[in-house]
Amino acid sequence: MSTAAWRVRIAAALAVSALTWMSSARAAEESAASTEAATPPEASAEPEKPRIDVRKLFAMNCSWCHDGYGLHAGKGPKLAGTKMSTEQIYDRIAKGKSGAMPGFAKTLKKEQIDAFVEYIKGLKDPDS
Ligand code: HEC
Repeated sequence: MSTAAWRVRIAAALAVSALTWMSSARAAEESAASTEAATPPEASAEPEKPRIDVRKLFAMNCSWCHDGYGLHAGKGPKLAGTKMSTEQIYDRIAKGKSGAMPGFAKTLKKEQIDAFVEYIKGLKDPDS
């Protein structure tokens, strides 16, 4: 066989193996994708919990009196580092304080007030 004929054969063999390699790589990708689709993120061990965006709620309900998301005093006091217990904070948010702060028992759900309590208790006092 001539050299030219060998060249053609080798080129053809290389092309075939490249194609085989590409299609097996794609098959691997596809099977990886279908395994992902078969395990939705909800299937994790974490129990389902309604997501409450505390910062957004804070911006809508509290920011006009409590500055910096509770980190600074405004019309209302700074909330970070409050001496109040979780029960007292809950009560203050739900009932407000006459002449100072409106109560939110009617406009916020219990879980949302709970989320505020947790958020406020978790704030790190920037001044201490
Ligand atoms: C109209 C202004 C106003 C709004 C709106 C407001 N607050 Fe207040 N808040 C105050 C004032 C004034 C005080 C101080 C009351 C007092 O004299 O004890 C206060 C006190 C508090 C306290 C007690 C802090 C402490 O250590 O004494 C908490 C907790 C609190 N507010 C949370 C909230 C949250 C959460 C929201 C939004 C859901 C909110 N407030 C909305 C004005 C406001």
